[in-house]
Amino acid sequence: MRMYDIILKKRANVPLTDEEIRFVIDGYVKGDIPDYQVSALLMTIVFNGMSARELGTLTLAMAQSGHMVDLSSIDGITVDKHSTGGVGGDKTTLIIGPPLVAACGGKVAKMSGRGLGHTGGTIDKMESIPNLKVSLEQDDFINQVNRIGLAVIGQSEGLAPADKKLYALRDVTGTVDSIPLIASSVMSKKLASGAQAILLDVKVGSGAFMKTIDDARALAKAMVDIGTENGRSVKAVLTDMDRPLGHAIGNALEIREVIDTLKGRGPQDLTHECLIMAAHMLVLSHICDYETALSRVQDALDSGEALERLRLMIEAQGGNIHVINDESLLAIGKFTYDVTAPQDGYIIHMNTEQCGIASVMLGAGRTVKDGPIDYSAGIVMHKKTGDSVICGESVATLYTSDESLIPNAAKTYVEAITFGTTAPTVVDTILDIVE
Ligand code: URA
Repeated sequence: MRMYDIILKKRANVPLTDEEIRFVIDGYVKGDIPDYQVSALLMTIVFNGMSARELGTLTLAMAQSGHMVDLSSIDGITVDKHSTGGVGGDKTTLIIGPPLVAACGGKVAKMSGRGLGHTGGTIDKMESIPNLKVSLEQDDFINQVNRIGLAVIGQSEGLAPADKKLYALRDVTGTVDSIPLIASSVMSKKLASGAQAILLDVKVGSGAFMKTIDDARALAKAMVDIGTENGRSVKAVLTDMDRPLGHAIGNALEIREVIDTLKGRGPQDLTHECLIMAAHMLVLSHICDYETALSRVQDALDSGEALERLRLMIEAQGGNIHVINDESLLAIGKFTYDVTAPQDGYIIHMNTEQCGIASVMLGAGRTVKDGPIDYSAGIVMHKKTGDSVICGESVATLYTSDESLIPNAAKTYVEAITFGTTAPTVVDTILDIVE
């Protein structure tokens, strides 16, 4: 078999056989097939797509390229959730997990990623909690989930290495935003990380990879089909990324927002979205019906049991639990700057990707792989799409520990916001469900 022939075949839009797909993944992971040939194949996939069979084979080959985590020694149904990336969306894991566990004894054994481009990562957020460990030995990880129901750690090096290599290549060859390539990337990691039930949060809009609802539905359906064919219970929730979720963007600022939300005083859109997702996860775990699930997770939030689960997780992973009642223990940028409204009226649109980029410019995200991160940097939005504003009023406060970064970030943030005189229609953040 020759890689050259496989590229020509796919370029002519002839479906690849299972053997050909496995040959590509094995050869690429071993280093036998060079980046430039895999890049060419990826580009043919961007243009010609993949059949359901090709996609299923590709995903499984990517999952099996490394260690397949065995969670069978966890008592109960393990549930996982994955977001396709957005701004302010990755903190939801830390809000959804605790009430889910507190409400029903659900088991959340989650491996999360770091930030990528303008999108944040749960693990970076968690590291802003002093001393918190985000890497555990497999046995400790499983014991923690059995004991307190919840553990969130970084993805181990050995998890789906084919995806790691392919993602890095896609990032620099203009081949990220392809439905089969995103679906195989996400689902290879989910199949390899072992959870029985998986809730997918597919982001739609200016801050997301999927810009239209139709593309988001197609991506969701492809991922649900892959999971179901592999014996997992999977559902996808399509959520709006035409405005950032919650009020905070940035690591320590978002942890502060997570804690506030679990105390019942978080932003309404964030609280609403998290409760709905937690309820769907209960249903996916075959614990109860949707209405019962919704009232159970709301009770877990109101009673403080959910916050207690977060405290237990921070304690189990060696973090400073006093952050829960003393937010001064979280480093928040010492230099601040208020972005003000240039006119009376309304915010009629926010370019969410640009808002994320402004936060990265303040130091909250990486500009090079494995680069440094300023946990204290970010943005607190006081006004979002649909809100009325008065000329000169603060619409957001920027935070950083490097004052020289403020002017460019402020310019980017202002340019991300469109002001107008007529109130826009604001849609619910949950747009659709694909099962
Ligand atoms: N998230 C992933 O894990 N992979 C993609 O390709 C896009 C988003």
